[in-house]
Amino acid sequence: MDAANIENQLTKVILTNDELQNRLAQIAAEIDRDYADAEHPLLLVGVLKGAVMVMADLARAISIPVHIDFMAVSSYGSGTKSSGVVRILKDLDIDLKDRDVLIVEDILDSGLTLSWLIRNLKSRGPKSIEVMTMMRKPDAVKVEVPTKYIGFDIPNEFVVGFGLDYAEQYRNLREVAVLSPTVYS
Ligand code: IMP
Ligand code: MG
Repeated sequence: MDAANIENQLTKVILTNDELQNRLAQIAAEIDRDYADAEHPLLLVGVLKGAVMVMADLARAISIPVHIDFMAVSSYGSGTKSSGVVRILKDLDIDLKDRDVLIVEDILDSGLTLSWLIRNLKSRGPKSIEVMTMMRKPDAVKVEVPTKYIGFDIPNEFVVGFGLDYAEQYRNLREVAVLSPTVYS
């Protein structure tokens, strides 16, 4: 789905698919360099469901061997704010012992879910853990989450597309766009 298909539901496109893909190609080149000498294939860990599109495009832009796994977590919170209390709905299939792990995220906002995830995965004995996030909101800058690769810093607005949803809709939008307030009401 393209923004043009749902123009009346969007306020503005903030990232085109070309911009997303070009940035992913740059990040993939950094990853190729940073993990060139890794002993085992780099393990990309995606958080369902938002990271699915980032994972699919990043993994294909990377030239070194990678393994892919997914986790599903639910964070208890009121409405749109996450609380940092997290429950695992689907755990990883792959053992992290001695692995280089790169968590692949769609967007970093409060960073609470991610801080919890890093602590949880660190306890499994990986060789290294780093984070790649496609987007970062201003609040995330305050959080102590070590983020090695950042796609774009975006304004503090609710966005959809490229995996991000509003009530499960718009994940298949190719661009990242600000949702029109008329959609909420
Ligand atoms: P936090 O960093 O723990 O606050 O939560 C980040 C998660 O909240 C992301 O993985 C998204 O699922 C969701 N999220 C944060 N901002 C947005 C947004 O603008 N649109 C859609 N989902 C968002
Ligand atoms: Mg997410």
